[in-house]
Amino acid sequence: MPLKEKFSGALRGVRVPLKTNTRSGTQSKTSISVQGFSLKPHINLPGTAIYLADCITGMRATLRDKTVDVVVTSPPYNLGMRYSTYKDARPRNEYLEWIRETGIELERVLSDEGSLFLNIGSTPRDPWLAWDVARRLEDSFELQNVIHWVKSIAIEKEDVGNYPGISGDVAVGHYKPITSQRYLNDCHEYIFHFTKSGSVPLDRLAIGVPYQDKTNIGRWKVAKEDKRCRGNTWFTPYATIKNGAQRPHPSTFPVKLPEMCIKLHGVSRTSLVLDPFIGIGTTAIAAQRLGVPCVGFEIDRGYLDWGREWLNKETGQQASAAMDEAQPALATDR
Ligand SMILES: C[S@@+](CC[C@H](N)C(=O)[O-])C[C@H]1O[C@@H](n2cnc3c(N)ncnc32)[C@H](O)[C@@H]1O
Repeated sequence: MPLKEKFSGALRGVRVPLKTNTRSGTQSKTSISVQGFSLKPHINLPGTAIYLADCITGMRATLRDKTVDVVVTSPPYNLGMRYSTYKDARPRNEYLEWIRETGIELERVLSDEGSLFLNIGSTPRDPWLAWDVARRLEDSFELQNVIHWVKSIAIEKEDVGNYPGISGDVAVGHYKPITSQRYLNDCHEYIFHFTKSGSVPLDRLAIGVPYQDKTNIGRWKVAKEDKRCRGNTWFTPYATIKNGAQRPHPSTFPVKLPEMCIKLHGVSRTSLVLDPFIGIGTTAIAAQRLGVPCVGFEIDRGYLDWGREWLNKETGQQASAAMDEAQPALATDR
């Protein structure tokens, strides 16, 4: 099915023009009604539709079954993060039940060969959190890969050997230091890769790395070019920021992270990306960079307003601000 048809077919009653089909920023005028409330994207650009809405309500209202190819997302971690709207400290069981319900809706919208990349961290004091969340999704999905998002790493020269260009010890990346006698600084998070079957083929070399030992090339059938599978440890540091004004949201991921997830699933097999907890729109930026359509949901107007400016800058276009009236039925205040 052509890309355009698949995207417009995925969204119930909402047309979002594609980047590849842009006529200088055509905006969708189509809206739909949910429980008497109009639902239009808060950010609407060619290839991007982001709704100011609770994600479960929003997915039910806008997305047809099995029309999303890749979900990349990071839900609230329930660790007391200070979001502007969302209260990130719920009773554990209530929080996990909400994750399970979100998973059921994601299962509905994901295509049979789709991928769900779920980023979540934990704390040294609560190390099971990430796995508790992952387990709540096991009724809906198979856990196909566990990826470690490494935010900071120290590599000693003596462990590297004669690798070209490494002249000394290296300690790179950013992390939140923990003052403790018993815990280590927490320098990684998880990306759980869920699929429906557990056997969805991936484009491993799309995020592959060059062989260190070039004699490997051609030695095996799979080693046809100077690229091997990167493996499940991804060093993806945050950009260095110099002041608080550059931090509009307390827990974003770097753009490179959703970019790598989409590439790993396969850009050519991706007609629609979804982020149900899109924050300031990082996943939409990644999707724009890769030329794939993206739909997202977020309950915080401030984050989306910031995201709109970011997307405008990224695309050189002006996103519509269609949904500036209140949506009480959709924006829940958890
Ligand atoms: C971990 S942050 C995601 C940040 C995002 N990955 C980014 O880079 O900007 C989780 C987000 O979920 C949002 N959120 C909380 N409850 C929600 C809900 N029911 N529906 C949609 N978004 C929600 C929060 O406001 C917060 O921005």
